[in-house]
Formats: sequence, C-alpha cells, structure tokens
Amino acid sequence: MTFRDDGYAAIDWAARSLETVGELPVLAQVEPGELSAKLPASPPEEAEPFAAVLRDMDELILPAMTHWQHPRFFAYFAVTASEPGILGELLAAATNQVALHWRASPASTELELRVVDWVRQLLGLPDGWHGHIEDTASTSTLAALIAARHVTGRNVVVCSEHAHSSVEKGARMLGMELRKQPAVELAMTTDFPLDDVACVVATVGTTSFASVDPVRELAARAHAAGAWLHVDAAYAGSAWICEEERWSQDGVELADSLVVNPHKWLMLPMDCSLLWTSRPDEFREAFSLVPEYLRTPEDVYALSEYGPALGRRFRSLKLWAVLRCYGAEQLRAVQREHIRLARVFARLVEDDPGWELVAPQRLSLVVFRKNVSDEENEQLVERANRSGEIFLSHTKLDGRYVIRLAVGNTRTTEADIHQAWEVLNR
Ligand SMILES: Cc1ncc(COP(=O)(O)O)c(C=O)c1O
Repeated sequence: MTFRDDGYAAIDWAARSLETVGELPVLAQVEPGELSAKLPASPPEEAEPFAAVLRDMDELILPAMTHWQHPRFFAYFAVTASEPGILGELLAAATNQVALHWRASPASTELELRVVDWVRQLLGLPDGWHGHIEDTASTSTLAALIAARHVTGRNVVVCSEHAHSSVEKGARMLGMELRKQPAVELAMTTDFPLDDVACVVATVGTTSFASVDPVRELAARAHAAGAWLHVDAAYAGSAWICEEERWSQDGVELADSLVVNPHKWLMLPMDCSLLWTSRPDEFREAFSLVPEYLRTPEDVYALSEYGPALGRRFRSLKLWAVLRCYGAEQLRAVQREHIRLARVFARLVEDDPGWELVAPQRLSLVVFRKNVSDEENEQLVERANRSGEIFLSHTKLDGRYVIRLAVGNTRTTEADIHQAWEVLNR
C-alpha cells in the first residue's frame, strides 16, 4: 500500500468514527490495565502494514477510549475537534514545520501572527497586543508567571480559590509563593495586600462554575502596586466572539497577559492555546535567548522568544482552517446553540423540586445537584457515567458534592440534553 492509499483508509476511518461515535459508550468501558494487557510488551522487529495499525485502532484502541467527540460527553469542558481542524492537523504533520525562528518556517511564523490577530479581532480585544500559540493554558499561564516574575522581580502569585490548578502548578514549578484568595458569590475578593505580589491571576470562566472575577478592579489594584495582571479565560474567552457575551470582558483590556484556548470552545482539536500580552517587549525579554547556531542574517521574529519551547508546531494551520471553513458567523451560531442547550438543561433542573441549581447557569455550563446526600449524588454520577449513555463530571462547592454538565460538542442536540436528564432521573 502507498501513503496515498493508507491515507484514504485513515480518512475513511476518521470519517466513520465521527459518523458513529454517538452509538458508542461515552465513557470507556474498560478496567485499568485492560488495554496494557493486550498490547505487545516489545516493539515489532519486522515492518507491519499501516492497515494493521487501523485494525488495532478498531479492536484495541477504540474500546479503551472515552469519546470526547461524543454528543453526550458533558464532562469537564466538553469540546469539538471539527473536520477542518482535523485536516489542518494532517497538513501540519505532513509539512512538519519546526518553527525555531522565522527562517526555519516563514510560513508558520507569519501565519501564526496573522491568525492569532484574526482571533484578537473576533474577540474584540485591543489593538497592538502581541499574541502567539502555546500548547495548553497550563503552559500559557506558566509563561505569564515567568514574565510577571521577570518584570516585577517579585515572587508571589495571587489567585482565587476557584482558579484552575494550573496556576498553583505553575507557581510551584517556579518556586513562587501562591496565595489563594477567598471568593464571594464565586468571584475573587480583592482586599489582599499587594506590596510583594508579582502576578494577580483573574479568571473569566472558572473551571468549576464558569464564574467571573472582577477583572477591572483586580487590574487597577495590581497595577497601582506594580504587579502583573494575567487573565485566564481559557474556556470563556472564546465566547467573546458573541457580542452579548462581552460583558465578561470588562477590564480585560487592562490585562498584561491573557490566555484563551481555541481547543476548548472554538472547535479546534487539541492542542491550541492563545497567549496575548500587552507588554510584548518585556514579555520577550523574559524568554529571549538566542544561541549562536540560531543566529540568522534576517532581523525578524522568532516566536520561540515568547515562551518556553524552541521547536514550535504549525498549530496556526488548523486555526486558520477552522476560522475559514466555519467563518465567524457559524462559530457564533455553534456557541449560541451550546448556551441554549445548557439553558434547556438548567430549566429542567430548576423546574424539578427534587433538584437544585447550585450556581447560576453561565455560558454552556450547568452546575446542579439532587436534593439528597453527597454520597447519593456521587453514586448517581458514577452510575450514570458507567451506563455509557452520558459522561458528567463533578466539583465541590462549600464542601458539597455538585454535578457539572458542560455542552461543547457540535453533535449535541436537544434530544441528548433530554436523554441526560432522563438517565439521571432513572
Ligand atoms: C479556566 C481554565 N484554565 C486553565 C485550564 C487548563 O487548560 P489546559 O488543559 O489547556 O492546560 C482549564 C482546563 O479546563 C480551565 O478550565
């Protein structure tokens, strides 16, 4: 078989997988170690055909998958790897650009700057910000903390008790001190001392509740004290393509850095995290280190001077493909539908006295619980997930177990929402 034939077979496999994923159990129905036991312990000595890999995809790998492309995947933040995004990944792998600096890939460097700027425009962010692509929000936030420490010469990070664990992990990796600030009505309080603070991290769209911190006030206080303000809008930031969701952008124009993940809610396959800074020169200073072998006669951009990685993937290609093949209008329509579907579910919860919404429904996330004990709620989620019909996740609010239902897949319909409700009540 040739690359071309194998390629057609792989695309057939992918297309069939997308067409039929809804018929599979969402949560992998395997025990830990079950796949490992079926995989050869050592690598093959002789070459095998690619068809053997595809066969094993069906027989071994697929049954051990939790299906993130499933219409009833409602856990964490549900996502979609759209078709143009998948094909963009294929082209990126085929051309294998390693964008160390401009010369190593003018295309990757210049396309990345352009499409990240397209997203900046679509989200209504200020002119003049510098944006680039990192793999994940965890890396983007780590990079922001590095820049904040470099610029301020201080070593303390402050974030909300509801901030994502990546903030704590970043601080820990950098040996920075983390201070978690309590929240009132899920929003970070602002009455903390700032004299030794390097970075204040505000979250727009927290992981547990999609709640929003008072960014404007945090920015004003941080800047008055010489601290950096990083905004984590990994999930919610994508919703700013819809004008009616821009209320949560209030104050973001004052940020020193901002992360938004198109792989969460702009239909991109993992991974693609956008990191903007309004202080590009200082940001670059924190990272710039050009060894002799990377010096070139052109005095131009190296995006590797804005983050931890040297070799950079051609991630902008899939972002370009998605932005072009959807167009802003269709991306807005997808998000509005997800928010509408979340509202449908929130109403079902609200209208049933046996259940309660534990936080206001924000964007495509509903946080709720049954009016029974924590243990019973936990068992309920576990049974629902084991059924394979739906997949939900949980969090805690004031020590109580609460259930999260997040809509984020383009295949999800209102019937799926009703099925989720039916499974939980069954
Ligand atoms: C608000 C927020 N920030 C950061 C992250 C981490 O994202 P990543 O997996 O891209 O590191 C998440 C993940 O869900 C998140 O919800």
